Amino acid sequence: MVVPRLEEAGVAVWPCAGVVGRELLSPSPANGNSGAPSGSRFVGRRLDLGASMHTIYCDYNATTPLDPEVRSAMWPFLTEIWGNPSSLHQYGRRARAALDEARERAAAVLGAKPSEIIFTSGGTESVNLAVLGAARALRDRGRHLITSAVEHHAVLEAMAHLERHEGFRVTRLPVTREGFVEPERLAAAFEPDTVLVSIMAANNEIGTLQPVPALAALCRERGVWFHTDAVQFFGKMPFTSVRDLGADLVSLCAHKFHGPKGAGLLYVRSPLRVQPLLFGGPHENENRAGTENLPAIAGLVAAMERFLRPPVFDPARLQSLTDSLAAELLSIPGVHLLSPRTARLPNTLAVAVEDLDSVTLVAGLDLEGVCASAGSACSAGAMEPSHVAMALGVPPQVAAGLVRFSLGRDNTPDDVPRIAEAFRRVVERARTCG
Ligand SMILES: Cc1ncc(COP(=O)(O)O)c(C=O)c1O
Repeated sequence: MVVPRLEEAGVAVWPCAGVVGRELLSPSPANGNSGAPSGSRFVGRRLDLGASMHTIYCDYNATTPLDPEVRSAMWPFLTEIWGNPSSLHQYGRRARAALDEARERAAAVLGAKPSEIIFTSGGTESVNLAVLGAARALRDRGRHLITSAVEHHAVLEAMAHLERHEGFRVTRLPVTREGFVEPERLAAAFEPDTVLVSIMAANNEIGTLQPVPALAALCRERGVWFHTDAVQFFGKMPFTSVRDLGADLVSLCAHKFHGPKGAGLLYVRSPLRVQPLLFGGPHENENRAGTENLPAIAGLVAAMERFLRPPVFDPARLQSLTDSLAAELLSIPGVHLLSPRTARLPNTLAVAVEDLDSVTLVAGLDLEGVCASAGSACSAGAMEPSHVAMALGVPPQVAAGLVRFSLGRDNTPDDVPRIAEAFRRVVERARTCG
């Protein structure tokens, strides 16, 4: 893969080689960082940056490349099958048949009923529909919601909205040093009017796998609805049926397992119903108005069929790679392990470097040809320590130096020493530059 190096892409580099300055965070015309990179040229709409070093991509929790076969499955819906599934004529009927079939196939992969699937525009929408849609459907029964301190912002911000503007109360459960939500804590947090609990299946930043079936069982006993954000779970962990999770609502999205961006679904256990977020036509069984995005849905379903059972992120292979990487990284002075030692996503390894900040580290790694993340992609531009790292109870000067490596299909054992050597160089340089 040919990708621009930071200097080539016009990102200012501090005089101390290999360490990238804050300009990376706030490109502006004032620092000459807003236009086409010098020494590069636009060819049509494409930026031609010439040959680049071999790059190691280890940010698969942020996103994955579209699989060529998934792309082929989308193609007919970008070309000949372009009708509106709501139209009565033959173009529409053909599109409707494809949509119905896609729903049946998605349900079959999950072990669910087709009527339990709502296609959405991705992870954020699925999570928002679950949290806002369920809370609003239940508001006459109660106004208390429970979540954890380490959820993705899609959950946390939806909960905060309900708290600020719609009269709900929200309990955010603390987690252990390794990011686990303890079932006893949940059991103690229920109130007489608790109506919804939302706890993620797998943490995107540190990889902690939550005891979802146990948490869901506590909710079921009390008649409380349980949502799990499983965006990072599917494609990485084996499962036989979505029902194994025990959840009433389950969110997933395609681009985390080599499907297209902007495609996801929400599973809603029958006969439960959420309140829609979008109003208009009766699409998606009156759960989500708007003409269906058939190319995206076709890509989602193709990726689900190819990559969920068994998971495309081979657990045994990736566990061995991240274990070796952990051993190498932890031998560097001042590096702490943030991921749990057991019950973590096999592909995910988060470490933190004392007294250094994530953005400097990740930018330095990029210059070394290693693509990692400073936390969740959505907050990668923020300078505050990750809320997940802070929730683990580590000191702020450690939390601020979180770096996440999330490996995937194309990583090999040879990548491990290369990543570790690059990391050691970046840490040493950052320390020398102060
Ligand atoms: C756990 C989790 N939930 C939700 C999302 C939101 O997904 P998207 O950004 O694709 O809408 C992400 C994305 O990284 C995620 O990791």
